[in-house]
Amino acid sequence: MSWFGRVPGWPVMLMDGPVVLRPYRRNDATAWSAVRRANRAWLAPWESHLPGSWDETNSPAAFRYVHADQRRSARTGEGMPFAVCLREDGQERLVGHLNVGSIVRRAFCSGYVGYWVDSRVAGRGVIPTAMALAVDHAFGPGGLHRVEVNIRPENKPSRRVVEKLGFREEAYHVRYMHIDGAWRDHIGYALTSEEVAAEGGLLARWHRMRHEAG
Ligand SMILES: CC(C)(COP(=O)(O)OP(=O)(O)OC[C@H]1O[C@@H](n2cnc3c(N)ncnc32)[C@H](O)[C@@H]1OP(=O)(O)O)[C@@H](O)C(=O)NCCC(=O)NCCS
Repeated sequence: MSWFGRVPGWPVMLMDGPVVLRPYRRNDATAWSAVRRANRAWLAPWESHLPGSWDETNSPAAFRYVHADQRRSARTGEGMPFAVCLREDGQERLVGHLNVGSIVRRAFCSGYVGYWVDSRVAGRGVIPTAMALAVDHAFGPGGLHRVEVNIRPENKPSRRVVEKLGFREEAYHVRYMHIDGAWRDHIGYALTSEEVAAEGGLLARWHRMRHEAG
């Protein structure tokens, strides 16, 4: 929370091409549950899991608790939980999630980014675009100085996301997080605002890299 009682940079809607980031709404429950349930095999190896079956913890009813937690973290300035949507053919649909979480302000001004996308739209640059939008916003109106992403070494697609965006690999965390039944090592990647300022931000960098890759 800022000294004036308002959370810096929240709520907000961000977009680039067909990719839209916005706060979750109560009526996202059905769409969120459908996409999460359809992606069990795709997501489960990479996420920490609550007690209960996948269908239970990803039901429309479970979304009420997820959403309450998201709203609480956004209200206190500890999180920026974005629904990741695609606007295509005149329609907007929820296809993923990106959260800047565990935000600590004062002399740290840092947060951790987590994300996932529906396997049916994987490989289209949706999450790198979402990450670039969210990080630029976090470094600007959001008042952060640093973001960190921790990724299992085996998760090559996720490592590609941060490598393409030019995050710095800076740590190896042994038995870092309990995921898919065991304590898993993670590689720590980070970025500070100075590292992208000269290039006009992370979105500008991402656009340039995509253009150069053809
Ligand atoms: C990691 C993830 C979010 C990437 O999102 P994305 O929007 O597909 O990102 P990109 O389009 O940049 O693709 C990243 C890499 O995924 C791989 N990829 C592309 N299409 C793919 C597909 N259909 N299936 C699997 N991997 C694919 C490629 O290696 C690509 O890298 P490249 O651009 O060098 O070819 C997505 O794969 C995902 O949701 N995975 C499961 C959950 C997860 O791992 N979350 C992150 C935990 S740290």
